[in-house]
Formats: sequence, structure tokens, C-alpha cells
Amino acid sequence: MISRKNGLAVLVMVFVRIVAFSQSTDTLAGTPPMGWNSWNKFGCNVSETLIKEIADAMVSNKMKEVGYEYIVIDDCWQIGRDKDGNIIPDPKLFPSGIKALGDYIHSKGLKFGIYSCAGSQTCQKRPGSKGYQFQDARAYASWGVDFLKYDWCYNDGQNAKAAYLTMGEALKATGRPIVFSICEWGTNKPWEWGKGIGHLWRTTEDIVNSFDGDIYWGGLSVLSIIDLQANLYKYAGPGHWNDPDMLEVGNSILNYTQSKTHFSMWAMMAAPLMAGNDIRKMDKPTAEILTNNEVIAVDQDELGIQGRRFWVFGKHEIWLKELKNGEVAICFLNRDANNAWKLDYDWKHYGLGFITNANLDKNIYKVRDLWLHKDIGNTSVNLVTEIPPQGISMMRLSAIKN
Ligand code: GAL
Repeated sequence: MISRKNGLAVLVMVFVRIVAFSQSTDTLAGTPPMGWNSWNKFGCNVSETLIKEIADAMVSNKMKEVGYEYIVIDDCWQIGRDKDGNIIPDPKLFPSGIKALGDYIHSKGLKFGIYSCAGSQTCQKRPGSKGYQFQDARAYASWGVDFLKYDWCYNDGQNAKAAYLTMGEALKATGRPIVFSICEWGTNKPWEWGKGIGHLWRTTEDIVNSFDGDIYWGGLSVLSIIDLQANLYKYAGPGHWNDPDMLEVGNSILNYTQSKTHFSMWAMMAAPLMAGNDIRKMDKPTAEILTNNEVIAVDQDELGIQGRRFWVFGKHEIWLKELKNGEVAICFLNRDANNAWKLDYDWKHYGLGFITNANLDKNIYKVRDLWLHKDIGNTSVNLVTEIPPQGISMMRLSAIKN
């Protein structure tokens, strides 16, 4: 029999566990999550072998070193449910089972992500989680899942906020900290209700491997996505991020210049950085883009402030992102597909607008080019450079101490 004293101790323990747990989920994704997801490159061609090789590659190619950690299996890992409603992974593709795969990923010091859908079916017509949210969440937790991407196909007219809240609560109830990625394509303005339910939410339909042409429904180019996400800056912050979709760097349609622009702008927008290419066999330029630690540092800055447009001159844009210690990231974006942007930029004339913790009149700032990896001068002299068609120049400004 439990004595009064013991009963009180048990209550205190339960309370402490609840508090500790809610803290652990609430402090997840303090900076935008980084990792890899199977969808953009492999679609339904996922398997245990592929995922293990991707985990190996992430360790050996330095991606892990610069901050990539989640390996996410997207759609098509699941084939049905058993008579008790338990979700069944495809035994042909994952013969050792999902738990063993999670263990393998963890043994590499990485984290494990999986995909499901709030609807009755996933977008590829596999079983969705509608009606099975708590049962599925328990299965994920028992497999060691650290990240769930949760889609919106076949949603049968559910209320989006309620549907995502249900799965969010189901994940919390497992007691395992699991990053919750809301993927309803921005349809129901998740930026208005997603904070506290999930840690990131897609703001748009799917990215396609295109820089400036939109192809079909669910297919947006890099520039279109930037435009759709640009004004949502106020909704992002530590633990709750706008997600402009996974990266297309290394998927062979974007050229080197466009890929640098894509990656830089995702960093300026404090976007989750989920590589979407075959990281087992990357060419050198792709690897250099994905592992540019100075650009990644802008994305991962601990203030978690999403960058914003500062000036627009036709096809030329200037973006600013406030960083810790009064530093600022600045990106000159040339959207023009045909002409270079010949820049002769008077720092003081334009100032730093909405950035209140930095001032170009009071201080001189060192200017560091984040793609050349070198200091290129300071803000007391004009910046003279040429930005290629569809290219960027990205810099970090730090006050020079006297
Ligand atoms: C889409 C989603 C994609 C991918 C795909 C899988 O709805 O936006 O990122 O997950 O489903 O079927």
C-alpha cells in the first residue's frame, strides 16, 4: 500500500517529469533544424540500405560537422496496418525493421526522422495517421524517432489546426522529444497557429528543381518561394520556424550560381536546411555550398530572427538579417536572368534601416564575404562589385572596436 508520504513523493516525481518533459519539447529546434530528407531526390525509392548509406555519408563528408543532424525518411516507408491497427513498415525495403535503422542512425551521432500524414492516406496513398495518431506516435517513439514530418493529403476536410494539435499532443504524450514538422503547404496559414503545436511549418506548396519558373501545382521555383515567405518574418523564432521547403542544391538543374543563391537566401530566411540531394556522391561545388559554415552560421544564429527585404530596385534586392552581438548579415540578390548587377554601394547612404542594434553612422563595420571566406574591406568605403545574373553577394558586418 502507498503511504501518504510515499504518495506525495510519487506525485512530486510525476510533476517533475511532466515539467522536465515539457521543457525538453519546448526547447527543441532552438535554431532551424538541419538534416537530409529523401523526397526531393529519391521520391518513393527509399530503403534501409539507402538511409544507412546516407547516414554514413553525412558523417564522412563533413555535413555532420557543420550541423546537419536529422535523417528523414519521407513518404513510402509504410505499407499497411495489422489487425490491431499498428502501422507496418515495408519489410522488403526495411528488412531489419525501423527500430534497427533508428539505432544505426543514432550510433552515428545523428537523429532520425520519419513521415506521416494527417489524412486517411499519405500523398503516395500509403496509410495515413487519421484515427491512429496516438498509436502511431507511440510506435515512432519506440523506434527512437526524433522528428516527424506530417503531411496534409486526403485530409477529409478536417480542421487543420485541430488535426496538427492532435498529432502534436500525441507526440508529447510519448515522453520522447520529437521535432514536429507541419507540412500543410501554407494552405491554412499555419504561421498563425503553428507555434506551440509544431516546431516548423511549410509556408508553400512543394519546391521544384527550378530557379524562376513555376511548373505545375505543387511546383514552385526558388524565387517564387522566396516571395511567398518574405513577409512572414515576424512569425519565425527559436522553436518555431517558417519552412520554405527542402533544398534542391545538388539535384542538377540549378547551376552553381543559382544554387548559391538558393542556399544563401534560405539562410537569410532562417529556414530549416534539409538537403534533398544524393549526398553519397556530391561533386565538389555542391559539397562546398552545403557545407559553407559561414552561411550556415547566419541561418543558425541564435537570435533566430528571419531576414527581411531592405531595398528593392527592380530586379535587384538587398536583404538584411540581424545577428547576435550586433552583427548583421546582408545579401545582395540579383534576380535578373540576363544581366550582372554592377554595384557601387555607399554603406552609409543606405544605412541599416530596421536593424536597431547596428548603426553605420556610429560605427565602422568590417565586411566579410561569406562565399569568398575573406574580409573584403569595411563600411567606410563603397562596396564595388559585380553580381552575376541570378547570383548573390552575401556578407557579414561586424563593428570594428576602437
Ligand atoms: C507532399 C509534400 C512533399 C512530400 C510528398 C510525399 O505533400 O509536400 O514534401 O513529402 O508529399 O508524398
